[in-house]
Amino acid sequence: MYRLLKPLLFRLPPETAHDGVRRLLRAAQQSGLHRAYARNYLVEDDRLTTEAFGQSFSNPVGVAAGFDKNAAVPRALAALGFGHVEVGAVTAESQPGNPKPRLFRLREDEALVNRMGFNNAGADVVGSRLDDEPLPDAPVGVNVGKSKVTALEDAPEDYRYTYDRVADAADYVVVNVSSPNTPGLRELQGRERLAAILEELRDAGETPLLVKLSPDLHRDAVADAVDLAEEVGLDGVIATNTTTDRPDDLRSPDAPQKGGLSGAPIRDRATEQVRFVAERTDLPVVGVGGVATAADAYEKIRAGASVVQLYTSLVYRGPAVARDINEGLLELLERDGFDSVADAVGADL
Ligand SMILES: Cc1cc2nc3c(=O)[nH]c(=O)nc-3n(C[C@H](O)[C@H](O)[C@H](O)COP(=O)(O)O)c2cc1C
Repeated sequence: MYRLLKPLLFRLPPETAHDGVRRLLRAAQQSGLHRAYARNYLVEDDRLTTEAFGQSFSNPVGVAAGFDKNAAVPRALAALGFGHVEVGAVTAESQPGNPKPRLFRLREDEALVNRMGFNNAGADVVGSRLDDEPLPDAPVGVNVGKSKVTALEDAPEDYRYTYDRVADAADYVVVNVSSPNTPGLRELQGRERLAAILEELRDAGETPLLVKLSPDLHRDAVADAVDLAEEVGLDGVIATNTTTDRPDDLRSPDAPQKGGLSGAPIRDRATEQVRFVAERTDLPVVGVGGVATAADAYEKIRAGASVVQLYTSLVYRGPAVARDINEGLLELLERDGFDSVADAVGADL
């Protein structure tokens, strides 16, 4: 089916295609039609179930932040077989994001570059939607970013505003200090500024709290951030966001576009950060970056990821991507003699 749809979608500008798909998913979700997807895409097998940061996951493959910025389609995404859905980034203020075009397909590289800039409806709107609309059985996380208009010094209060509006409905909250498209945001990964934000949110409530890191951080900075996460009592670390680097071997004409690169070219780098974080801490790690196949997911799990997430491969592989990964994972677990996904977490450490 996606074999037919993909050429049509790929003829449209990427953001137009994305908006169209999201509208279809929203219509399906609102009419209840999405339930039919689950029969096709949901892989139910006890060996895929796993637990991390107080949540039970029916399978380890989740949707990464950015796909559903305004929490419009979490049930439809869960019905596509994803074991959790991270919505957002949500910011305190609603904001339009950067001028278009701001999303680029790097087809030859199975990658994307985006400079969306946290376009979203804002914490009040998204918070109300999370309160008012039914959520899926699968855990729903909320990725929280800083409003563009807010100065870096005022970041803790800005994150806190959003946290207060979404945390009750969320199964977990992510402090996103790693998107490359809000000026200065990644400076918030420095120890002092990060401590102020994490402490503010840790005091604000009990919802499991994670921090999402950039693949562009140097090892020492990753180590500092992870140590801080432990000290403050966070519940997990997400590795990684997109990179501003451009590997030399990218082949697509749009490779030099400004923004964050995601997909296949960041896979190994993200896995290395997963491994580094998992070696340093007992906190659960969420592995994200270039996961497109069961082998990719398995590699991150063996490197220490309790669950994985994806975005770019949903664009290139289509709606069956979670099912295909989960089916493939079952084969890999069996091949290597693991009873469950949980047994394979960190097997390579
Ligand atoms: C269009 C787009 C928008 C994104 N928006 C966000 C975001 O709002 N917050 C965030 O933490 N990550 C965001 N990301 C990063 C993804 O969540 C993920 O970390 C990254 O794309 C690597 O995973 P992938 O290779 O599977 O795409 C975005 C990615 C893309 C492609």
